[in-house]
Amino acid sequence: MLLGTQRVNAHGHLEIGGCDAVELARQFGTPLYVMDEQCIRDNCRRYKAAFDARYPKNEISFASKAYLNMAICKLMQQEGIGLDVASAGELYTAVRAGYPMERALLHGNNKSEAELQMALDHGVGRVVVDNFLELRLLAERAKAQGKTQKIFLRVTPGIDPHTHRRIRTGQEDTKFGLSIATGAALDAVTEALGAAPHIQITGIHCHIGSQLLDAHTHEQAIEVMVGFLRRIADVTGWVPEDLDIGGGLGIRYLEGQRPPTYDEFADSVIGALRAALDRHAVPEPTLWQEPGRSLVGEAGVTLYTVGVIKRVAIPEAPGTRTYVAIDGGLSDNPRPQLYDAVYEALVAGKMGEPKDQTVTVAGKHCETDILIPSVQIGNVETGDILAVQSTGAYNYAMASNYNRFTKPACVFVRDGQADLVSRRETLDDVVRLDEIPARLA
Ligand SMILES: Cc1ncc(COP(=O)(O)O)c(C=O)c1O
Repeated sequence: MLLGTQRVNAHGHLEIGGCDAVELARQFGTPLYVMDEQCIRDNCRRYKAAFDARYPKNEISFASKAYLNMAICKLMQQEGIGLDVASAGELYTAVRAGYPMERALLHGNNKSEAELQMALDHGVGRVVVDNFLELRLLAERAKAQGKTQKIFLRVTPGIDPHTHRRIRTGQEDTKFGLSIATGAALDAVTEALGAAPHIQITGIHCHIGSQLLDAHTHEQAIEVMVGFLRRIADVTGWVPEDLDIGGGLGIRYLEGQRPPTYDEFADSVIGALRAALDRHAVPEPTLWQEPGRSLVGEAGVTLYTVGVIKRVAIPEAPGTRTYVAIDGGLSDNPRPQLYDAVYEALVAGKMGEPKDQTVTVAGKHCETDILIPSVQIGNVETGDILAVQSTGAYNYAMASNYNRFTKPACVFVRDGQADLVSRRETLDDVVRLDEIPARLA
């Protein structure tokens, strides 16, 4: 499974963005997150082109929770992509990168007053209001400061997508947004309209879930959301300009997986949208989307160095298991532990060899942090560089310092050039925030 610009070079090594993966590991150390810059740019262009061709009134914003640092903000700005941020830290990163904040959306189910103030101070384009408390706090602050804040209202369409329970968000029983079914969403729209001119509601938002391998639930959600646009117009007389359907398109983690292409996805989404707009006699809104995983996931590879290889006896066939331990694990990729995420791995320096053994890839944390329970792989030996595929989304972004591991570095590779975009943490970084109270000194 070669993704993006990956290929096998003349040395039989994995090459990403024109850079030899074994050489990258030597130069920058491991674990190392490698991001294929051209792949990200191509994904942005293809996603945009797929929707521009079918429905020109559309806006694409990158869900930065998937992968964020200042370099990706610059890249998204260059590609003309908006930015969705969901915390003070994400917002601050975008501001520090010089990202044009009028193209940003602020998310969160429990935004602090400080976060709302940051949105007002930095001219964030839309605050995606999640609840009544937030609506009131934002309205008060905007009024006190003589400002107008544009908002979307996050609503729950009551759609239950078939994905892991921890990444489902559009069903009724959720902490996110306001229910259409109970009438809470409509009450919030009415209240928001009443808070003009300091609050300017321009549309409604939903996000139903992540890593969705077909467009079925998006189609269902669009039908509910457009029905709600109709109801808003009927009850309030206001016709919303914007409809945001969040993110969610899945990617390939395993060889056999086949998520919709951007064109197939756009066909389904725009087909469903046009049909629903006709059925409910609703004028065309601007369609907003917030893809995260589908723009960066397949662009990322994590390089590890293989350490201990251990063969143990197991009761099931074939009677033994081979544990291949790598120099990272839970702290750089918590997804297998969080939601049973699955991955493919390659021996970066032996791409020409047959994949004739099955191994279990284990991390080095004080947990049974199995990174890949079972993977078909070539002849792997201590010192080899293991490349784990499709780690561009929710890996670096979710990294922790568990066991006081230092967070890995991240590089962008393109046309044979590798540039650091996040430095590797040092041991001094690990103790940087610690204090020893005088009574313990
Ligand atoms: C509000 C919102 N929008 C967009 C996304 C991005 O989702 P994905 O990475 O699946 O495209 C998320 C993910 O959690 C989200 O919560």
